[in-house]
Amino acid sequence: MSFPKGFLWGGATAANQCEGAWDVDGKGDSISDHNRAGSRTSGTHRAFDLEIDTDNYYYPSHTAIDFYHHYKEDIALFAEMGYKTYRMSINWTRIFPKGDETTPNEAGLKFYDDVFDECAKYGIEPLVTISHFELPFHLGKEYDGFLDKRVIGFYENYAVTLFERYKDKVKYWLTFNEINFGTLPHGLRINGLFNREYTESEQYQALHNVFLASARAVIAGHKINPEFKIGCMLAYITMYPKTCKPEDVLKTQQMNDRLNFFCGDVQAKGKYPYYMKRYFEQNDVHVEITPEDKALLQEGTVDYYTFSYYMTTCIAADLDQRDDKSGGNLFGGVSNEYLETSDWGWQIDPVGLRFTLNQLYSRYELPLMVVENGLGAFDEFTADGTIDDDYRIDYFKQHIVEMGKAIDDGVDLIGYTPWGCIDLISAGTGEMSKRYGFIYVDRDDEGNGSLKRYPKKSFYWYKKVIESNGEEL
Ligand code: BG6
Repeated sequence: MSFPKGFLWGGATAANQCEGAWDVDGKGDSISDHNRAGSRTSGTHRAFDLEIDTDNYYYPSHTAIDFYHHYKEDIALFAEMGYKTYRMSINWTRIFPKGDETTPNEAGLKFYDDVFDECAKYGIEPLVTISHFELPFHLGKEYDGFLDKRVIGFYENYAVTLFERYKDKVKYWLTFNEINFGTLPHGLRINGLFNREYTESEQYQALHNVFLASARAVIAGHKINPEFKIGCMLAYITMYPKTCKPEDVLKTQQMNDRLNFFCGDVQAKGKYPYYMKRYFEQNDVHVEITPEDKALLQEGTVDYYTFSYYMTTCIAADLDQRDDKSGGNLFGGVSNEYLETSDWGWQIDPVGLRFTLNQLYSRYELPLMVVENGLGAFDEFTADGTIDDDYRIDYFKQHIVEMGKAIDDGVDLIGYTPWGCIDLISAGTGEMSKRYGFIYVDRDDEGNGSLKRYPKKSFYWYKKVIESNGEEL
């Protein structure tokens, strides 16, 4: 198994899940700042509050793990593990607090200058997500998010501000995190639709506008620095037919096309795929796509393809009537009896990663990066201050083996950034106890704890993996 020289080993976080300092130095509130905590153990879901009520409720993003004040210490730990790259996002509302301003907030820009300078000290290449569930709340409230075409311009202005400011510090960019969540009725993290119920046509129109915003950013970015590599990012939940019954296979193809392939096809191939026409017709969905839009999508294609990979699922023709749904799966599949599940019900499938890498590479023939992968688990902090997370090591080992095999298959895989490389708050539930990190952070689900950092057993293991370029597992 052979990871290429220069393979980008690293880790990934998102601003809203680690930074905290939610209203510090001029920062405005993003949609994520309106999320209360939920809990897997008590089965409560995250509430999304239009009015933030800190007197009565706890909002995990407001402090998170306080990366804002710990970034030097955290980046030093990433460097100790040997990271070549650090995937992070910029908190849109640090730069444009409401989203529709014309002048950026200098304190926000300065913070990321400091973060990038700190990375540079250790030779760590930043990989920056421009929008990772951090849409300014104001844009959702006052404009209905991306349903309003003006928001495309606000996003472009934000992206151009970043490109110009950091053109000599950042080379790798991603326009939107998990853009395909925009195909779901509850896709507000992407499109900012939360004021009322929206029709499916409105939902797809907003997603279309997100595509346009992404394309405009790609075009502008390449003009500012032709060396930029600007990519797409999808939540990839690989789908298998539950049985070999042709109806199951056909349903799998149709769901996979719409939920997994569609957004990547638009962003990487520059046009709407043929199968969406049928879906739109059958579901009475109307999206306005002008000739100018088509030209823009064609011009603004991405340079590389990235995705998150946590689980796979099974699809059956009679999906709606079945009660064996696989847990935690936003795309709604049924369970696979051959796979184990995480404590949160996610089906763990290392071999599926090799399958997925081959599937994506044969479709797009673009360099690929796995920019999220990992095991959300309960960790035990022992009396002597160690965290023996062998289950996490085992999870990563199996996935890295399969990535190596995919590379041997001929796939151009250029990087791997495991999710939540330092414990942070869960996007799905807001819990701290769903831990992904190589680094433990002393903080609990209610916001108690010293915020002190401790390397876990997996920290030392991953360090060896990077040192040996994937040879020593
Ligand atoms: C992806 C997101 O959906 O999965 C991350 O890009 C998120 O923001 C990660 O944290 C894991 O999901 P969760 O719900 O366990 O935090």
